[in-house]
Amino acid sequence: MEATERLRPADLRRYWERLSDQMLKVDPQGLSVTCFAGMPPWFNRFLDRYQRRALKNLVQDIDLRGLRVLDVGTGVGRWAEWYLQRGARQVVGIDVEGKRLLTARERHNEVGVVFERMSVDCLAFSGSSFDLVNSITVLQHVNRPMKEHALAEMSRVLRPGGHAVLFELTDLKDDAPHVFPEERAAWLQMARRHRLYPLRTVGEQYIPLLRAARGTLRFLARGESRGRIDAIKEHAMARPTLDASMLFLRMLVMMSYPIEEIAQRCAPARGAKITGFLLRKHEGAR
Ligand SMILES: C[S@@+](CC[C@H](N)C(=O)[O-])C[C@H]1O[C@@H](n2cnc3c(N)ncnc32)[C@H](O)[C@@H]1O
Repeated sequence: MEATERLRPADLRRYWERLSDQMLKVDPQGLSVTCFAGMPPWFNRFLDRYQRRALKNLVQDIDLRGLRVLDVGTGVGRWAEWYLQRGARQVVGIDVEGKRLLTARERHNEVGVVFERMSVDCLAFSGSSFDLVNSITVLQHVNRPMKEHALAEMSRVLRPGGHAVLFELTDLKDDAPHVFPEERAAWLQMARRHRLYPLRTVGEQYIPLLRAARGTLRFLARGESRGRIDAIKEHAMARPTLDASMLFLRMLVMMSYPIEEIAQRCAPARGAKITGFLLRKHEGAR
């Protein structure tokens, strides 16, 4: 596999800004900036559906009514709305990128939701002030030292006995420059260091057809697979009309619906690209 140059923190911030500038115009709902970045809504509706399913499975035993929830890296506020609809008393969404926060505020102006600009490794909230902290594909975008700071902060603001929900990349083969995947064991080790203990894990994004297509592309393009993937993304956003390559991709996505349905029910969590972790803060911890 070709060596991956991961983006540095300052470049990552620019990456999020650029993505918002380019994509929010064409996809006001924001899935193209928060799911598979740069891909059109028809592609991301598939991922969104199964992320929702996986989150529901992960937190099925928790009564969310009346909880105060912190959604870190909230993007356009998808999960803020999700928790509110399930009875959360208040959801605070934070993100480092301003434009998507503006979109979040426009889209979710219900009583009980607040959005603030803030980085997950430096949270301006007092200790033990939330019942649940949610991070969906956020910590996977920061390097190891920042992950540690972020988990320390998430644990600090969580009350003892409160829950942390993480969906993060566990596929070490993902070579996108803006991701920093870790093995499941490494995520769990980091969480434990900050007194967050695992209750349950679920798999998310099995997507065997799409992974096979990507593998084939990697093989055919040899050292240039990254550039080819970027070209496909541009093509997909710019030309939603059904030419041959988009027709093929749409067909793969359509066939992926029933496969994902079955995989989420039957396949082991470790076969998925992303793992959902339900963690609980130690009762005795402050
Ligand atoms: C892949 S998107 C996921 C957004 C949202 N959680 C969702 O699932 O819809 C990752 C988000 O994390 C945000 N982010 C990246 N680094 C961050 C940091 N240090 N602190 C807070 N948010 C951050 C980005 O701006 C982006 O909105």
